[in-house]
Amino acid sequence: MAARDVCPHRGAPLSQGWVDNGNLVCPYHGLEYAAGGRCVHIPSQPEGPIPDRLCLATCAVREAYGLVWVSLGGGELPLPEFPAWNTNGYRQILPPSIDIHASAGRQTEGFIDVAHFAWIHHDSFADRSDPVVPRYSVERRPNGLRAEYVSTVSNFPKSMQHRAPEGFLWRRVFEWSRFLANRRRSLSARRDD
Ligand code: FES
Repeated sequence: MAARDVCPHRGAPLSQGWVDNGNLVCPYHGLEYAAGGRCVHIPSQPEGPIPDRLCLATCAVREAYGLVWVSLGGGELPLPEFPAWNTNGYRQILPPSIDIHASAGRQTEGFIDVAHFAWIHHDSFADRSDPVVPRYSVERRPNGLRAEYVSTVSNFPKSMQHRAPEGFLWRRVFEWSRFLANRRRSLSARRDD
């Protein structure tokens, strides 16, 4: 379950709470919310009725590719296809998350803009003497874009570039899914086992 990080009782952040017997416990007055969002226990009034308003506004959530995916806009949660994640011979790498103070559109643009490699990343893996971006095509798909780009710009950090064979070409595939570009909200998430 994923929900806004606000308890409908008195507004405490549910992300400060914990999970007890499969219920999410609010840290302020101990109200418990079951999977699906309904309040199922009020410690101060254990025999009393539970008002309907004590229900979390939940969002669709799924676990895939080592990540938790949440539909912030409500509705369905279609995920991009990523068959390599479960294919022998591929190594799965989850980089650490970073907080970028920019809109989803701006972040997407930054990730698929390869012309900045030589300038912004010249200290880490790219090179200002190799700024030319080879032509590459962008394919429009029903739910986004896919671009495949082959170049001499290595993915190895500077200290390991000797490991790339002479003339090695690097292939990068970018897939952008429209339904993942959404506005940010404060959320808490937990896993229902
Ligand atoms: S604010 Fe969450 S239980 Fe009171």
